[in-house]
Amino acid sequence: MALYSETVMDHFRHPRNVGVIEDADAVGEVGNAKCGDIMKMYMKITDGIIEDVKFETFGCGSAIASSSMATELIKGKPLEEVRKLTNKAVAEALDGLPAYKMHCSVLAQEAIEAALNDYEQKQKQ
Ligand code: FES
Repeated sequence: MALYSETVMDHFRHPRNVGVIEDADAVGEVGNAKCGDIMKMYMKITDGIIEDVKFETFGCGSAIASSSMATELIKGKPLEEVRKLTNKAVAEALDGLPAYKMHCSVLAQEAIEAALNDYEQKQKQ
């Protein structure tokens, strides 16, 4: 069996939603101290819906595929739903990740959480 699913390879080779949103309403950046990979998530939020989302990932193929899939999963979704997205759901949508690569999907979940926290902080100002 191949180490990576076709879906992982597809999102790694053709990542969706790569880039920066200049006037983002929310930005979240996280890193994994062990592997050194970094993920940054930008969101445009209107009326409690993720209108647009983009990411920049300096990391491994699984991290890129996870970010790409995560953005696809949350685009157009309400914030309450996005808050509940787990790294497991990201990995499942990718048709699985090898066990030692699960932390790459955790990075995607954490980047989303960081962006949502940033959004909440800005709302309070
Ligand atoms: Fe670190 Fe994939 S090896 S995020």
